[in-house]
Parts: sequence; C-alpha cells; structure tokens
Amino acid sequence: MSTEPTAPRSPAEPGPGVGESLTDAGAPLLSRRSFFTKLSLGLAGFGAAITGLPIVGFLLAPLFGKPPQQWQSVGAINDFAVGETKLVTFEDPSPLPWAGVTARTSAWVRRENEAEFVAFAINCTHLGCPVRWLSDANIFMCPCHGGVFYQDGRVAAGPPPRPLFRYETRVQGDQLELLTGELPITG
Ligand code: FES
Repeated sequence: MSTEPTAPRSPAEPGPGVGESLTDAGAPLLSRRSFFTKLSLGLAGFGAAITGLPIVGFLLAPLFGKPPQQWQSVGAINDFAVGETKLVTFEDPSPLPWAGVTARTSAWVRRENEAEFVAFAINCTHLGCPVRWLSDANIFMCPCHGGVFYQDGRVAAGPPPRPLFRYETRVQGDQLELLTGELPITG
C-alpha cells in the first residue's frame, strides 16, 4: 500500500459539491447520480407513452370512420337447443392494434324455435358491463349495478335505460352467423 502523500487540491480545481464524493479515480459521483436521474425520467416517459397510447387511439378513432360490418359464424345450428340461451365468442371485426385477447368478444344467442335465433350484445346498456344469463330465473343480470333484463332483452329492473342491443342473425348452410360490427355499448 502506498504511503505517498496525495498532492493538495489546487484552489482552481472544482471539489465535490454538497452530498457528493469522489471515486477512487477522483471522478465525481455526480455522473452516476445524473445517469440514474436520466434513467428515471426516461422510464417515466416510456410509461406515460404506453399508458397514453390507448387514449390517443380512442380519441383518433372517429377520424378513421366506422369499422366494417362482417358476418361471422358462431357455431353449427345443431349446437343450439330450442329455448336455450348460450354464450358465443367471435373476433371483433376491427380490433385495436393493442387489443390482444380482448379482440375476442361475446354475445348471448337464444334459439327461439327451429328456424329463429336471437343474438344479444353482452354489454349492459347502462355502463357496458358484461351481463350474465341466469337460466334458472330466465333473466340476464348485470353484476355492476343490479340491472336485470328479461330473456327477450327488455329491461326488467335497475338502471339500464333500454333493452340489450341485438345482432342480426342468419343461417348459412349448417352455420349460425351474426352480423358483427360496431354496436353502441350503452344506451
Ligand atoms: S352497468 Fe349494468 S347496471 Fe350499470
């Protein structure tokens, strides 16, 4: 270990500031602190950009016009029993690029008789929560604020201002299809 005395610091040389110290090589630690400050700012900016992207997309969506309507198969007609209300899933015809698995959406399909089907949007017409079908009571129930709909979609109780929205249906071959596209989520 060297016992050489270190040369005195010249008054012109900048010394460490308050709360700073010198590394073994004499370089101020400020550069490390500055690095972490910049890193924190960068990460905060990145986080803000990721968070804000869907909001920007939502605001700009009207500029790109209405999403296309599209017939989509939701299953073979023999998979639906007369009088049964069943949940089906299908692809959102115009998913947002970052939608991921949420690009799959659902509807409740009821087979009224051999030839007639009714398809309800899954979203409650109050604030858009997904409604559940309670087969024992023959009603749709919204878990958010207690909205209740009859099996034909009419409002039975609670805050929903209008019946459940419906999709147009058709039978193609042995397949049941829904005309999917933009549906208003709330009334
Ligand atoms: S969102 Fe369904 S009752 Fe409010």
